[in-house]
Amino acid sequence: MRTQVAIIGAGPAGLTLGRLLERAGIDAIIIEQRSADYVLGRIRAGVLEQSSVDLLRDLGVNARMDAEGIPHDGVELSFDGDMLRINFHELVGRRVMVYGQTEVTHDLMEARAASGARSIYEASDVAIHDFDGERPRVSFKKDGQHHEIECDFVAGCDGFHGVSRASVPADAISIFERVYPFGWLGILVDQRPVAEELIYAHHARGFALCSMRSHTRSRYYIQVDSSEKVENWSDDRFWDELRNRINPEIAERLQTGASIEKSIAPLRSFVAEPVRFGRLFLTGDAAHIVPPTGAKGLNMAIHDVSVLAGALEEFYAERSQAGIEAYSPTVLENTWRTERFSWWMTQLLHTFPDSGDFGRRIQRADFDYLRASRIARQSLAENYTGFRV
Ligand code: APR
Ligand code: PHB
Repeated sequence: MRTQVAIIGAGPAGLTLGRLLERAGIDAIIIEQRSADYVLGRIRAGVLEQSSVDLLRDLGVNARMDAEGIPHDGVELSFDGDMLRINFHELVGRRVMVYGQTEVTHDLMEARAASGARSIYEASDVAIHDFDGERPRVSFKKDGQHHEIECDFVAGCDGFHGVSRASVPADAISIFERVYPFGWLGILVDQRPVAEELIYAHHARGFALCSMRSHTRSRYYIQVDSSEKVENWSDDRFWDELRNRINPEIAERLQTGASIEKSIAPLRSFVAEPVRFGRLFLTGDAAHIVPPTGAKGLNMAIHDVSVLAGALEEFYAERSQAGIEAYSPTVLENTWRTERFSWWMTQLLHTFPDSGDFGRRIQRADFDYLRASRIARQSLAENYTGFRV
């Protein structure tokens, strides 16, 4: 088999890149190790920045998003029960769209299937060869048979545990990482959301987040110790703990019910540098991880692949290397800006086991500063809705 771009991974990064390349008339094959159903079974954050919404519209995968997604003009912060609304629209003239990542993935998969573009699911033993030369190859097994794809470029869109980053020699890559001593226990429930907008809550007992997937499906999270096990959390225990951490008047309105999903996600900040190695590019979670506090993971992935698609278009149209050379610095600048914001939201809102009374007072001062200063709120709004230079 031969293609121009071999895309490893059919998550949001790989599928969005596939769509972008298709539109540019560049041939690509997606190689994914799981089944399509497995990929669609993953539940992840669901806040789209305006620029992500615009890109999905541009790519013609917006019908369901525009019908079912919920535009939000702001978010609520809660600090020991004191509420502060951040009005994005008034502060920076932008809003965000609440639409689940699972739905974005579903829409992209459907569009790809309809277009007839090639995707190979359930590929095992995926390996990348010769990406430091001009003729990279990707090999894999499918139904017991060995296959090989010759290509011009390899796009590593295979997430944090993928083969792309792992294929790079250790001395060619630097890793910057912070692992937080807690995770998020999340619950999905078919009940009306407790509020119209998302509520990010700091509490001495730990962080909590009230989010949603639709007007009838809610998503809630609470901070738990890294060592916690899902089995220790009955639905009732979860609801009691959530009520404790949010404003009491809001807690009274909480519609509880049997969970339809419950899981714990660890929190991590992670950056790989650089993100291009010859003709191999890292994108999305393969290149960086943010803690979910700023809802940035999906938006960063979409940003990366739009930069990459632009670079590849330039290469094929003009035989210019300029975009390819610029890929790593451009992506890293956005990555670090977004890492900083996600880290800042995380440290403002969570309870840290070792921060002591001083740390807690600083968190309160940070919240009071937001309450007092329009400029501070504007900075939060600018970053949350997606800051691009
Ligand atoms: N070969 C082929 N495919 C692979 C391999 C491999 N060796 N390893 C992983 N994959 C696939 C995974 O099965 C998955 O479908 O790559 C895909 C990567 O998808 P994601 O993990 O969703 O990563 P990405 O597309 O970068 O999306 C980033 O996902 O994790 C969230 O918060 C993150 O919202 C962000 C988004
Ligand atoms: C979610 O709805 O899953 C969600 C929303 C906002 C976040 C993280 C997760 O910051």
